[in-house]
Amino acid sequence: MANETQTTDAEARPEASPTDAWRSAIASRKTQVATTEGVPAAQAQPLEQDVSRRRFIRLSFWSGLGVALLGSVGLFVDYFYPRNVRGFGGPVAGGNVALYPRGGEPVHNREGQFYIVNLDPGDSAAAGSGGGEGLLALWHKCPHLGCTVPWRPGATVEGFAATDWFQCPCHGSTYSIAGIRVFGPAPRSMDTMEIEIDDAGNITVQTGSITSGGPDNPQRAVTHPLLPA
Ligand code: FES
Repeated sequence: MANETQTTDAEARPEASPTDAWRSAIASRKTQVATTEGVPAAQAQPLEQDVSRRRFIRLSFWSGLGVALLGSVGLFVDYFYPRNVRGFGGPVAGGNVALYPRGGEPVHNREGQFYIVNLDPGDSAAAGSGGGEGLLALWHKCPHLGCTVPWRPGATVEGFAATDWFQCPCHGSTYSIAGIRVFGPAPRSMDTMEIEIDDAGNITVQTGSITSGGPDNPQRAVTHPLLPA
């Protein structure tokens, strides 16, 4: 009897087709989605935590990169910042004003690459002092192509009676005692350097402070009470 009943139940239950299996799977999925939509805020929290963690990592990365860049820039500036520059490029002692008689020959300073001249305002020679009075520091580098320009007593220049000039040995550019160009291919007059004189008459030439030469060279001369008249 029992066997008969089992056989009857099995026959009564129809075998599930593949289509029914898909329907049942889709229905089950819908149920899951509907349940998730109703997830309370407390269960959504892990997502927020994940976002803030990512933000933290990103912030840390950019901060680290910024600090590394700042450090590199600091090292670069520290390495190239000039300290205690001696010789050309920094302050160079030029002796005392007593060493420079008015209208005397330019004195060459090889360490600082300059000449110091004491311009005589009474110099009436054409292309002479140009009316300038006091000490002038001239960079010895020729503005044409950079040769060192020597002072040439006795040199002559056509059209000028004066016989003392700065004259470049490379291409002949010629300059007055105030560094004014009177002849040659140089594009301008000799460049000048800043001069400082303390109360005792001691001269410091700032060889890192150079001004392009020009017709106003004589007016750049610096006077001092102790300067020989
Ligand atoms: S370098 Fe002095 S004239 Fe050319």
